[in-house]
Amino acid sequence: MSNLVEEINKRRTFAIISHPDAGKTTLTEKLLLYGGAINLAGSVKGKRTSKHAVSDWMEIEKQRGISVTSSVLQFKYNGYCINILDTPGHQDFSEDTYRTLMAADSAVMVIDGSKGVENQTIKLFKVCVMRHIPIITFINKMDRDSKNPFDLLEDIENVLGIHTCPMNWPIGSGKEFRGVYDRKTKSVLSFTANNGQKEVEKQVTDIHSENLEKLLGPYQYKDLMDDVELLDGAGDDFDLEAVRSGKLTPVFFGSALTNFGVEPFLEEFLNITTPPLPRETISGTVDPFSDDFSAFVFKIQANMNKAHRDRIAFMRICSGKFEKDMEVFHVQGNRKMRLSQPQQIMAQEREVIEEAYAGDIIGVFDPGVFSIGDTICTAKNKAQFKGIPTFAPEHFCRVRQKDTMKRKQFIKGTNQIAQEGAIQIFQEPEAGMEEVIVGVVGVLQFDVLKYRLENEYNVDIIMENLPFQFIRWIINDEIDIKSLNLASDTKIIQDLKGNYLLLFTSEWSISWALEHNKGLELQEFGNN
Ligand code: G4P
Repeated sequence: MSNLVEEINKRRTFAIISHPDAGKTTLTEKLLLYGGAINLAGSVKGKRTSKHAVSDWMEIEKQRGISVTSSVLQFKYNGYCINILDTPGHQDFSEDTYRTLMAADSAVMVIDGSKGVENQTIKLFKVCVMRHIPIITFINKMDRDSKNPFDLLEDIENVLGIHTCPMNWPIGSGKEFRGVYDRKTKSVLSFTANNGQKEVEKQVTDIHSENLEKLLGPYQYKDLMDDVELLDGAGDDFDLEAVRSGKLTPVFFGSALTNFGVEPFLEEFLNITTPPLPRETISGTVDPFSDDFSAFVFKIQANMNKAHRDRIAFMRICSGKFEKDMEVFHVQGNRKMRLSQPQQIMAQEREVIEEAYAGDIIGVFDPGVFSIGDTICTAKNKAQFKGIPTFAPEHFCRVRQKDTMKRKQFIKGTNQIAQEGAIQIFQEPEAGMEEVIVGVVGVLQFDVLKYRLENEYNVDIIMENLPFQFIRWIINDEIDIKSLNLASDTKIIQDLKGNYLLLFTSEWSISWALEHNKGLELQEFGNN
């Protein structure tokens, strides 16, 4: 038992989130390097090089240089066991990011110092704020010319609606970058450029030291003194409670590429964050330190490895200990089972595991029984975690296979990709199975669908864009669908469970439907 408590107390599970190119992959690699999880951190993916980061495995990600799906990495550092959940860097995949955040206890938000909060990322970061988990900000690329740090903080506060508390403060940027002032220790960690690639030399100087002015030069020294005075007088104080409830984000400045400020960031991150916290179920909460094992599925990914053609369900362990070959209960399937080939996945490398604890993420082979949001627990526990909401799709298209001989593969492919939550599929009541209506939150998801159907299922498709922008589930049980009085541009469709929905081209047609069908009740989100 004490071993269980000790193991769980060591766990930290966070998601890392950023706009593409802000440096998420680079920072992840440097963090892994501290844990000794990889030997070389030089393999940062780049569009122009053939090298790819360990967390970036899907072919389409490599081609586009963006992360489409999340992957999971684990490393040990200073007695801690840290799980990093990588998230897609593009807002078109915000739903995937949201699901991943459900499995995380905190999030690290990486921002490019020269750009601040970028437009495309606002939605992604807001998803993070919505979850009310602690958000720790790393403002990266200080070795390049960056925006004024006060403006960067204001940007975060205004755009994301979260208070900020700088933990350190940059001294210059780009060619003038001299390091950071650590507000807690009141000392300057100085930076020496060395062509960028390797870990830079660090030197710590107390703020009151006589050497500081010499080190920084008179102008930067004066700027720093002015900034420190301003910071101490203005800005939010560090308040651990506010951080832990997602109201205040501690902000660190650094440079991932040169490995500057990464270790102090990691150390402080570990102080700020907590081990796994209790999780809500539909009938109460589950204590992570409980003897009973419980977990939920937050991600399903088919064909991660083309050679294996398998499907992996990723689970976040919420309580207790998982042991290989243990018998578990799948709540939604209402049956006992053994999880086969439990593994921890480090991008493409998989390692079969013997045990895992609350806070850890495990991947198990899924013979097609799991859905996103499902609970797995020990039989006597039978908790059921609250489902993960789906986002209302905003773009729609009709999808058919080119070659009618490929019907089976088409149905299998679209269904599997939909089960992963990568797209949502619907059916027109009168249409056959060889065509579906696909709904997505971001249009890039269509590209992923097309690419994956061609590459994984060998099916070429024809996509026809549809003009709809809004979707509503009809929640009245007893309603005669055929007798609904709808505007000519409204379409009736069904989801996979046979529920009826309406597609609208405008808000106006939604009001029209409600006005002309007394008692009709519509809902924006489907139930998972
Ligand atoms: P992402 O996962 O958020 O998309 O970003 P990634 O880490 O891949 O970094 C994007 C680019 O920014 C990379 O350059 C990377 O080397 C660079 N970068 C990351 N952190 C820093 C930093 O602290 N300072 C500077 N100056 N650059 C940084 P690239 O040219 O796209 O790739 P590569 O050709 O260098 O591999």
